Amino acid sequence: MKLERQNLIIKKLDLTNTIPYDLLLLADPSKELVDRYLEKSEVFAAIQADEILGVLALYPLTDDTAEIKNLAVKPECQGQGIGSYLIEEAVRHATIRKLKTVFIGTANSSIRQLSLYQKLGFQVIEVKHDYFIQHYAEPIFENGIQARHMIVLSQDLTHPT
Ligand SMILES: CC(C)(COP(=O)(O)OP(=O)(O)OC[C@H]1O[C@@H](n2cnc3c(N)ncnc32)[C@H](O)[C@@H]1OP(=O)(O)O)[C@@H](O)C(=O)NCCC(=O)NCCS
Repeated sequence: MKLERQNLIIKKLDLTNTIPYDLLLLADPSKELVDRYLEKSEVFAAIQADEILGVLALYPLTDDTAEIKNLAVKPECQGQGIGSYLIEEAVRHATIRKLKTVFIGTANSSIRQLSLYQKLGFQVIEVKHDYFIQHYAEPIFENGIQARHMIVLSQDLTHPT
């Protein structure tokens, strides 16, 4: 069942108040890495009745490119369209800001995420071999597959699909 979009507000969070680590650490288990990219990121939240149900961090890479560094939805609210809504809003925001490309990376083992991002117009452009082995202290497994490589996808905002 999809959650009705009119019941959700997507808004930019002011991180000087609270940082929703419970959600951010769902997408990235390293608090050190999360803290490092949050400093420069714009964080968008999907909010219903004052409760944050999902977050997305948009991190600037250059003047006209950015990367979605973190996307997470509360486990009990997943599968209802919130992640898709956050990505669509981040891409809309990036288009208004006249960015040319938005990137997103995920693991070779993140099968459903790979499906989601491609359905939303992202295309695979690069594989960073052994990224997760080199950057994370503990091995990560999903869907019975070890997360080894980072699959990088991008969306060209100058030629929308
Ligand atoms: C990945 C994630 C952000 C997707 O958000 P969501 O709100 O569940 O996504 P949606 O409801 O918009 O679902 C869109 C698609 O995502 C996939 N999906 C649905 N539930 C999912 C789940 N529990 N886990 C992963 N992917 C899921 C499906 O392909 C779905 O497509 P469909 O609706 O056509 O079947 C969310 O599941 C999550 O927070 N997972 C844990 C953190 C994470 O892995 N973040 C991404 C790091 S790269």
